[in-house]
Amino acid sequence: MSGSALYETFARAPLAFERGEGSWLVTEKGDRYLDFAAGIAVNSLGHGHPHLVAALKDQAEKLWHVSNLYEIPGQRRLGERLVEATFADKVFFTNSGAEALECAIKTARRYQFVTGHPERFRVITFEGAFHGRTLATIAAGGQYKYLEGFGPKVDGFDQVPFDDIDAAEKAITPETAAILLEPLQGEGGIRSFPLQSLKRLRQLCDSRGLLLIFDEVQCGIGRTGKLFAHEWAGVTPDLMAIAKGIGGGFPMGACLATDEAARGMTAGVHGTTFGGNPLAMAVGNAVLDVVLEDGFLDDVNRKALLFKQGLASVADEYPDVIEDIRGDGLMLGIKCAMPNGTVNGALRDQHLLAVPAGDNVIRLLPPLTVTDADIHEGLKRLRSAAKGLSEAVAAAAK
Ligand SMILES: Cc1ncc(COP(=O)(O)O)c(C=O)c1O
Repeated sequence: MSGSALYETFARAPLAFERGEGSWLVTEKGDRYLDFAAGIAVNSLGHGHPHLVAALKDQAEKLWHVSNLYEIPGQRRLGERLVEATFADKVFFTNSGAEALECAIKTARRYQFVTGHPERFRVITFEGAFHGRTLATIAAGGQYKYLEGFGPKVDGFDQVPFDDIDAAEKAITPETAAILLEPLQGEGGIRSFPLQSLKRLRQLCDSRGLLLIFDEVQCGIGRTGKLFAHEWAGVTPDLMAIAKGIGGGFPMGACLATDEAARGMTAGVHGTTFGGNPLAMAVGNAVLDVVLEDGFLDDVNRKALLFKQGLASVADEYPDVIEDIRGDGLMLGIKCAMPNGTVNGALRDQHLLAVPAGDNVIRLLPPLTVTDADIHEGLKRLRSAAKGLSEAVAAAAK
């Protein structure tokens, strides 16, 4: 056996955490790290949130799993609450984002099938997209680095340049079923579709009989300051995949659909063993209790502004390190003026955790419960890292 017993698929940082408290992670040795990675936008309510801990413990004492052969009251309740809070009429629960996307893609194809268009199965996606690591979702994401060596790319996905709506229109063929996008790309480098583009895509789908699918796995559940990012544009999709933040750290996802879009999803055509199990549903309901509380999202918006302004001022001070600040709400990106891996390493040296993304960006995704003090502390650490990097650049130039 070479190295560890684990697949070598992750380039893991040499850090192991033992516990977490709010926006902080603590190693076995007691070193504290400010966690602005939040498990890649998963720990929406930080670590050890008392309401989530209580909900999980309470459910764990009662019942863990029964399968979808039976009614699961917590699932029914979470489904109803998601329907109440969104465009959707129907929900299918999954264990992950990729499975939520698979469900959305299958639902779109099935809709076309049952409405007399079995020839429509293709989905248009945008460059820089990330929709997961299953065979279909790597094809949807279209990134060579994730497709290479895994055999023929699953058929049915056509990609156009980021935010090129004219190209999307031209790419529509008689076989097109849907258009799929993240309103705010995460892995692609914190790139938002202009609100106008989302409106145009909605019109395009309506006029051509296509379904519009939003992937809000990363940007949903309050991340951008609204429950879902697309709400800023005032348009709604036909289908939406969510995951990450809805579980607050418990693995879960969901595909949300209008009644019309879900027409083809009749008994037996799709399924899951674990999706929507009582433990996940207890936590999902607890996350919604907090995120839907009066004033919670207003506070996210207030903190996001504070953070973004602070980031902009660090960027002004160190243009040789930071080119630009981008993103919405608490889904922010630093476009780096040097390799983002170097910047990420310098942040980690300051015990500030962040996540590299495409387009030479570092993502900052603090828990939505981050405090003002945590934000100031994060900015202080970022400034120290930027200062050190800037001095190193100056010294190298001499
Ligand atoms: C936008 C988006 N879609 C889908 C996925 C896949 O989710 P999962 O890793 O839970 O399968 C991710 C994960 O990073 C994501 O960011």
